[in-house]
Amino acid sequence: MITSLIMSTLLSVHSAFVPPALIPMPGYVTWKEGNFTLSNQTTLAAPKSQDDLAQQFQSWVKPGTGLELPISSRAKASSISLSLNSGLTQLGPEGYRLSVNSRGVKVTAAGRAGLFYGLQTLRQLLPVHTFGSVASSEAISIPCVEIEDHPRFAWRGAMIDPARHFIPKAAVLQFIDVIALHKLNHLHIHLTDDQGWRIEIKKYPGLTDQGSIRKAPAIGDGTAHAGFYTQADLRQIVAYAASRFITVIPEIEMPGHAGAALAAYPQYGNTGKILEVKPDWGVHGDIFNPSMETIHFLQDVLTEVMEIFPSKFIHIGGDEVPKEQWIANPAAQAQMKQLGLKNPDELQSWIIKQMDTFLANHHRRLVGWDEILEGGLAPGATVMSWRGISGGIKAAQSGHDVVMAPTDNTYLDYYQSQDTAKEPAAIGGFLPLEKVYSYEPIPSELTPEQAKHVMGVQGQLWAEYISTPSHLQYMAFPRLCAISEVGWSQPAARGWDSFVIRLNRHLPRLAAMGINYRRLDANLVR
Ligand code: ACM
Repeated sequence: MITSLIMSTLLSVHSAFVPPALIPMPGYVTWKEGNFTLSNQTTLAAPKSQDDLAQQFQSWVKPGTGLELPISSRAKASSISLSLNSGLTQLGPEGYRLSVNSRGVKVTAAGRAGLFYGLQTLRQLLPVHTFGSVASSEAISIPCVEIEDHPRFAWRGAMIDPARHFIPKAAVLQFIDVIALHKLNHLHIHLTDDQGWRIEIKKYPGLTDQGSIRKAPAIGDGTAHAGFYTQADLRQIVAYAASRFITVIPEIEMPGHAGAALAAYPQYGNTGKILEVKPDWGVHGDIFNPSMETIHFLQDVLTEVMEIFPSKFIHIGGDEVPKEQWIANPAAQAQMKQLGLKNPDELQSWIIKQMDTFLANHHRRLVGWDEILEGGLAPGATVMSWRGISGGIKAAQSGHDVVMAPTDNTYLDYYQSQDTAKEPAAIGGFLPLEKVYSYEPIPSELTPEQAKHVMGVQGQLWAEYISTPSHLQYMAFPRLCAISEVGWSQPAARGWDSFVIRLNRHLPRLAAMGINYRRLDANLVR
């Protein structure tokens, strides 16, 4: 509100001034008179320890400007300076101050993530051509401004699903660049499912030798499909994301969505039958059995996963587990009785608890979809609430952390128009931009103390119907722009009308970056 007041005041003073569109909207923005001009005389001044951040800024602007801004550890007359300042700890590890006057630019923050976000905001103050890959000699004028900013939520995520359709590594890296521009900081990668196992596990080569290949589906795109990431690929993705302050959260599905793993290792299933990697979508009945051998197999997998992914959180899936095979499997029934468990829900809960303890012993934390509440929540578990918000409410009320990912507001695999004939085939649903933007992650049912357990919000890009990087971008943007603002901006700093105006001026940046975003509906074009 403060921001829009200042904007409108300034607009009436200099009617020609159109402030650059900032997404997500910062907390405090005060536009000033005058400009700073970026030129080949501009130095990036950063202490040696922040050199890598200066280098990233240099690499962002070079293709579109031809400028190779020199990096120096000493501030020059005309410079963009980066410095850590322990006096800014009240802004948190991701907060920053950005100050532009006619002589130069200063980015200050208590932590490196804050410097990075300050640079991302600075980037959004530059003209659109600087986002492109063709060097232009147009002048680069940055309006003078004072910004102070920090995120509302610690978890601002996007989930991708290479299990259903493999996403080449280069496309994942490009996706990371674009979500980093929006100050998202978690990339959840759904690595295993019925239709494919996409992570190399050295102890169980069959998982990728057999589990990464499926024959053509009866429905869908009608093509056979294969692909997986080597451990080296995943380490590269993790490092690339980390340098952009994004934590990659791996998901290994259990005990359901296990079809690809069971195609390779049927001994961990319930039926003894030879299985194929599922060529069709939907929820399948082939699930892991609850034996100790299977627990050890899954923990072996998690051991290799933890060696690749340094994230505090490891996602174990836990969603959509049909229990019929446990009911029909005498060994599963015997295990249930021996453990003194009353029903299959408690058996599922027991498996999740084995993983929770295992991960805790390795100084990690378990996160799972909200079905992990059924049969009793494991003590250290964090819940990703997808079937609405009730799972998130229940978990937060019982003192567990939650990430809000409800279908109604965050399933970005849903249609973007009710006129589905004009859209690429999608899984169903209807989730227009406005509905994503209107989402409030803190349920009104929670007390302020319980609300602290809401770590943030995440957009889901399930990929049954998303088979190319370009289609992934089409489903992701601009709805992830909305998620970024829901996750970052304080409610008082944001509003739909302002977002639409800013988005109209933001989308050409994505176009310049070569991103196939979905064009705005005609009624939103300003
Ligand atoms: C889910 O959509 N099955 C988490």
